[in-house]
Amino acid sequence: MIFVTGGAGFIGANFVLDWLKGSDEPVLNVDKLTYAGNLGTLKSLKDDARHVFARADICDRAAIDALLDRHKPRAILHFAAESHVDRSIHGPADFVQTNVVGTFTLLEAARTHWSKLPEDEKQAFRFLHVSTDEVYGSLSATDPQFSETTPYAPNSPYSATKAGSDHLVRAYHHTYGLPVLTTNCSNNYGPYQFPEKLIPLMIANALGGKPLPIYGDGQNVRDWLYVGDHCAAIRQVLARGVPGETYNVGGWNERKNLEVVHTLCDLLDQAKPKSSGSYRNQVTYVKDRPGHDRRYAIDARKLERELSWKPAETFETGLAKTVQWYLDNQAWADEVASGDYRKWVGTNYAQRA
Ligand code: NAD
Ligand code: TYD
Repeated sequence: MIFVTGGAGFIGANFVLDWLKGSDEPVLNVDKLTYAGNLGTLKSLKDDARHVFARADICDRAAIDALLDRHKPRAILHFAAESHVDRSIHGPADFVQTNVVGTFTLLEAARTHWSKLPEDEKQAFRFLHVSTDEVYGSLSATDPQFSETTPYAPNSPYSATKAGSDHLVRAYHHTYGLPVLTTNCSNNYGPYQFPEKLIPLMIANALGGKPLPIYGDGQNVRDWLYVGDHCAAIRQVLARGVPGETYNVGGWNERKNLEVVHTLCDLLDQAKPKSSGSYRNQVTYVKDRPGHDRRYAIDARKLERELSWKPAETFETGLAKTVQWYLDNQAWADEVASGDYRKWVGTNYAQRA
């Protein structure tokens, strides 16, 4: 069995769904169900005995120990995190708690579990830590892409706490020999992404006739990767990655934010035309994010060279699929966008007017 944390969130849930499409190895899915966790995403697994869900906080050592003792997983895949930069600016405490203290607690529980395993299972055990390219900081337009040896320089409370968790994971390998793997991935997009993030937010606002809020000048650059490609990379790193190594994961798709939003508008103009003109007319410039990183870009050649992973989707094919998914699954989007989400929109966007 594999032990997945954060498997009710965007990437974790996509990972669990993809995993069970390709394997009968059961998944223990451990998630606190914060605002970002949604069991509706996993409803196709409701009667599937291969999926065991446990609501627990990764900071709760006793709960994690009990789950490890009971299910004896051969690997832990750690997705759980507070993941949104803007929220980390408004409330960094939750980020320190889950991303740093939570990862530490999970590492301690994993170390105890691992140390009790018979030698062959100990050798085979893996702790795979899912991290972000944001730990490397910000690039200028001409800097080379981030590689695995780029020094860490996190700029937001989110990226600083992810960097802290990466360092702890590294130290548990170096000091205790825990067989860890770390992946640092660029911006993901695809089905089931919470509508606080750029792409699903823009789709939801466009369809709702609301402004499309571009921070600053809209020229910030991100590398975009379709979530299914990220999940495939994680499966490959789990199967063949070398313990102690880190792997950068990226899509070779650098795009300025304004370009991303224009492409989304064009796709929506085709799929769901409005009589009043293009969705592009809804674009609105708003006050920038404090400390907004200018550019992220990933050199993913190590993963290609050593583990033969390459993204299957281009930005164009992945984005077209994503837009179609949101059009076909408006009930999912409406459900997650209720309650707390509306409060967040008030907090984040009112001050940008
Ligand atoms: P998400 O915010 O959509 O989901 C996070 C999940 O973790 C939720 O289900 C939430 O309930 C759960 N969670 C939060 N705190 C918890 C706690 N204390 N205990 C147990 N569960 C808890 O995040 P995501 O976008 O799916 O990101 C998953 C991972 O991938 C994160 O570690 C993130 O840093 C990393 N990552 C994300 C991106 C991206 O573009 N989204 C890119 C690179 C790396
Ligand atoms: P986001 O999806 O929050 O990811 P991250 O900050 O982790 O890269 O944002 C992606 C980019 O889009 C980032 O440069 C900020 C920008 N952005 C906007 O311009 N408007 C928005 O409403 C949001 C949420 C993001």
